[in-house]
Amino acid sequence: MIKQISTIALATIALVLLTACSGGEKAAEVKTYKYTTVQVYEKSCIKCHGKFGEGNPAKKTPALNDRSAGEMAQDLYDVKNGGTNQSSGTDHEIMEHNMQKLVDQGFDYDIDSMAEFLSYLVKKK
Ligand code: HEC
Repeated sequence: MIKQISTIALATIALVLLTACSGGEKAAEVKTYKYTTVQVYEKSCIKCHGKFGEGNPAKKTPALNDRSAGEMAQDLYDVKNGGTNQSSGTDHEIMEHNMQKLVDQGFDYDIDSMAEFLSYLVKKK
């Protein structure tokens, strides 16, 4: 009997936590995108930049998990705003070209949200 009650209690707690988490994710995205940040990464970025954003020398893709969320946000800003190179001063020619294709396919994303996600990958390394 006691065991049954605690199982129900645990299930309830898990459900509450799950609901709280998914609610938070939605709040982080102000503009509405076709996919969530994680979905965009897994459906698109992952094939070139790797499971943990570690990069792939064979494809000449840089690591995305080697900087802070703030620095990442600046690089993402450059990539998304084609050719400005305002903040990082690095060359993003290929990626800017990709970006248009990605947007066309519905893989647009919120910069801050993506930067947060990528910096989370750093911790999992
Ligand atoms: C078709 C392969 C490909 C896909 C898909 C791709 N990238 Fe890239 N990305 C590259 C290559 C190649 C570079 C390096 C050359 C360049 O920046 O143009 C790059 C560079 C970058 C950079 C600059 C990194 C630096 O060190 O300055 C960022 C940021 C980036 N990608 C983010 C993303 C995100 C976010 C996605 C998913 C929405 C994504 N990329 C999807 C190939 C890809």
